[in-house]
Amino acid sequence: MATPIELFIEEMQKLFQPDEVYIMDGSQEEAEKLANIAQKSKVDGKIVLEKLNEKEYPNSYYHRSNTNDVARTEHLTFVCTPSKTEAGPNNNWMDPVEAKEKMMGFFKGAMKGRTMYVIPFVMGPPKSKYAKNCIQVTDSVYVALSMRIMARVGKQAVERIGSSSDFFRGVHSIGDVNPDRRFIMHFPQENLVMSFGSGYGGNALLGKKCYSLRIGSYLGYQEGWLAEHMIIIGVEVPDGKVIYFLGAFPSACGKTNLALLEPVLKGYKVWTLGDDIAWINVGEDGRLYAINPEAGFFGVAPGTGLKTNPIMIKTLKNDKFFPTLFTNTAVDNSDNTPWWEGASDEIPSDLTNWQGQKYDKNLDKAAAHPNSRFTVSIYNCPTLSPEYNNPKGVPISGIIFGGRRKDTIPLVYEAKDWNSGVFTASIIGSETTAASSGQVGNVRRDPMAMLPFCGYNMGEYFQHWINIGKKVKKLPKIFMVNWFRKDENGKFMWPGFRDNSRIIKWMIYRIEGKTGAKESEIGLFPEENAIDLSGLDIKKETMEKLLKVDKQDWKREVAMIEEFYAKFGDKIPRDLRKHLTELKKKLGL
Ligand code: GTP
Ligand code: MN
Ligand code: MN
Repeated sequence: MATPIELFIEEMQKLFQPDEVYIMDGSQEEAEKLANIAQKSKVDGKIVLEKLNEKEYPNSYYHRSNTNDVARTEHLTFVCTPSKTEAGPNNNWMDPVEAKEKMMGFFKGAMKGRTMYVIPFVMGPPKSKYAKNCIQVTDSVYVALSMRIMARVGKQAVERIGSSSDFFRGVHSIGDVNPDRRFIMHFPQENLVMSFGSGYGGNALLGKKCYSLRIGSYLGYQEGWLAEHMIIIGVEVPDGKVIYFLGAFPSACGKTNLALLEPVLKGYKVWTLGDDIAWINVGEDGRLYAINPEAGFFGVAPGTGLKTNPIMIKTLKNDKFFPTLFTNTAVDNSDNTPWWEGASDEIPSDLTNWQGQKYDKNLDKAAAHPNSRFTVSIYNCPTLSPEYNNPKGVPISGIIFGGRRKDTIPLVYEAKDWNSGVFTASIIGSETTAASSGQVGNVRRDPMAMLPFCGYNMGEYFQHWINIGKKVKKLPKIFMVNWFRKDENGKFMWPGFRDNSRIIKWMIYRIEGKTGAKESEIGLFPEENAIDLSGLDIKKETMEKLLKVDKQDWKREVAMIEEFYAKFGDKIPRDLRKHLTELKKKLGL
């Protein structure tokens, strides 16, 4: 008798009518074979992969996407629950029957003349009871290779699934890369995602945002855990102890950089466990434990350089895992290496821009697309934590939330307790970035950095956070940070990047009860000189400005929060409303 996996493949084959079906085993030989195919195939008139300089960037390939397919497309992303309320005002909603009909129309025969790649993968350490089993089909060899980097692809997934029909089904075709025929449809009740018309990471690597966050958050709500847009790091302090943190910032707001941080402070070291997604469970001892469902980094290239993120440069130049991909960066023709703004101080003289034309500094805003990305295995990372595959996960002592704000939000503050922390995270506002299509630089509410990724009603999601807190015996401390404050001249006031370790040190002192804190209207602030600024040239007035609550700014902020909360009506937990009322009172509003 056919297994549920075989039945699924058969069903997909009938639907898509591919010329060939290829089932991936996750091996290096297979990846080399696929990379060879990709170097000979064209999508949309462009060669899929081009080999880069082997000496400078081992195992690396360049991919140029269609210019209309460079970021997540939130307006084409839908959560298809039986009722609109379940999806909530935070999601686009479509009736599941209507959505499927629409997608079937696109999918029918879409792989004629193409190969259908079947990708079995596990999200999470395969020996973990928190890990989940998945199968994706795709007709894009670029997507298939990217999936090998980003997830644990191979037979172990098939073995784990066995004769069970309980696995995530991801159905993807790149179609004709036409934004008018592009949809990313989520069916949380059926553990199913259908995606058509895009090859971009967040739209097409279905294990990532679609499964690990949107479907994952829904599963977490049902099963009593959290799927979050968070990094996981262990910070080793001078006495050798390692303290684990989670960190949530909206897309393109500093997660990957913080996850691979090389601290400027002596005796401190960051161990990397994840740079984008964390699955968080309450462990047997009543503490929160986190695992990383993913196996690679899909990171923003611009801004990544030896000064800002030396560990990532080492990761990209490591030859351990095959392959590494660069998408929509520029290419330096003098030595066939990828280049992006911030890769070096000087702009190379012979560049091809991300659109494939000769770069002209008078015509082009930038040589690389602002959302150009690299896809690289976590095993290439020299700071990979030895706990990365621990089936239990790592015990969390602190949670850092943040956003990109030129004003209003101080450099750092601490929430008084869990529920205040949930409130603080629920009111995060951040300037939009190039990670999603649409205008850049508008402030929007992005609670927990999950606005585009929460697969159900966000009001209920807030309540779920409060409920999880009740189950935890030793609650982590919750912090809020903003690395992106700007002065009158539009310059960043805080040096950021490696200097962010100074703020982490303060957090550790708070967790260990080694330093006090000052009360303010919005939370607890560092005491005078409590942040280690040794060796840093920063003015006292700058630090004062960075750590100030400006009541005028906050009045505007509260208005935006109220407008956001109003969308959710009575789904906003009563306790969060109480916190908002208290905040207004403290601000004299
Ligand atoms: P996603 O992968 O889309 O979820 O984003 P991310 O949160 O991982 O963002 P990432 O770390 O890739 O950073 C995005 C941009 O912010 C890059 O251009 C970085 O150079 C910049 N950035 C990161 N950290 C800092 C910082 O501390 N200060 C400043 N000024 N910029 C930063
Ligand atoms: Mn992300
Ligand atoms: Mn990232």
